[in-house]
Amino acid sequence: MKAMVVGGAGFIGSHLCDALLAENNVVVCVDNFSLGTRGNIKHLLGRDDFILYEVDVSKETDLEAVFEKERPDYVFHMAANSDIQASASNPEVEYRNTYTTTFMILSCMRKYHVGKLFFASTSAVYGDKRDILLDENTPNLEPVSYYGAAKLGSEALISAFSYMNDIQALVFRFPNVIGPRLTHGVIFDFIHKLTQNPRQLEILGNGRQTKPYIYVTDLVRAILQFKDTEHTGVTLYNAGVSGATSVTTIADIICEEMDLKDVEYRYTGGESGWKGDVPRFSYCLNKIHAAGWKAEYTSDEAVCRTVRDNLAQRDR
Ligand SMILES: NC(=O)c1ccc[n+]([C@@H]2O[C@H](COP(=O)([O-])OP(=O)(O)OC[C@H]3O[C@@H](n4cnc5c(N)ncnc54)[C@H](O)[C@@H]3O)[C@@H](O)[C@H]2O)c1
Repeated sequence: MKAMVVGGAGFIGSHLCDALLAENNVVVCVDNFSLGTRGNIKHLLGRDDFILYEVDVSKETDLEAVFEKERPDYVFHMAANSDIQASASNPEVEYRNTYTTTFMILSCMRKYHVGKLFFASTSAVYGDKRDILLDENTPNLEPVSYYGAAKLGSEALISAFSYMNDIQALVFRFPNVIGPRLTHGVIFDFIHKLTQNPRQLEILGNGRQTKPYIYVTDLVRAILQFKDTEHTGVTLYNAGVSGATSVTTIADIICEEMDLKDVEYRYTGGESGWKGDVPRFSYCLNKIHAAGWKAEYTSDEAVCRTVRDNLAQRDR
């Protein structure tokens, strides 16, 4: 199979490229390096079965040229503005990199008759529904971030393009993903801050924000497991883990792994870390479990592993 991974130089996308190549697929990686890095894919450069295009996917003609040349069998759409905090001050970046990229990809798939899509959606589409166990049929999706809105809009586009053009679309809504090559988020921030000042740690919010964290290899395994399942239209799964980890617990784990004692935690206060943050939510995973996939690591285990990965990465 020739697999196009859009956003393939990013954190999750680069792990997906590794896994698709390990399954003997040819990978066409498309990225504009707005957030992804060459470092994430440097071990793949030069391989005959790995083709890289530096292209801004929000520009249709540039993307079309790649489709024209490569004619992929399957598109994995991982591109987005994944930095939710950054888009709070610049919503246009979500329109361009999260929503428009989806439209352009679907438009090219329609034109070049590509029949299979994977889309990386997010728990952020549900909005702040902290007292509800969120399942795939939860009604009244009300995102509270521009990012969540652009992803929900993307899901709507996928629904229509899938129906109109017989595209089989696999959509995963997942929570925070962590692991090697992580470039932002609470674990990354805390390690950075503690490296600068090992005596004191500023924690956004009250530290009780509690969310599920999924280890990247678990998520990639789920994508590979379901990618070839024949179905019509859109198939949607919540992909997540059992358990959830609070922000203060993350700080405790990092301090322990960095061997730091008596660090003073300074909370900025409030339930959310920032405007648009959903302080806690829980996922119903019955559908994906019944379909035969379960995460190997719990949320706390994923956090521990990621802290170790990140510290090892820094030492190298
Ligand atoms: N990391 C998470 O916790 C998480 C959770 C839920 C959903 N997701 C989704 O999973 C996907 C991958 O996330 P990630 O954490 O690897 O983020 P990432 O930022 O590392 O990867 C996204 C990639 O898309 C690229 N990109 C952005 N705009 C582009 C454009 N206009 N043209 C070409 N490339 C473009 C970036 O350069 C980057 O390499 C994203 O769609 C994200 O929204 C991530």
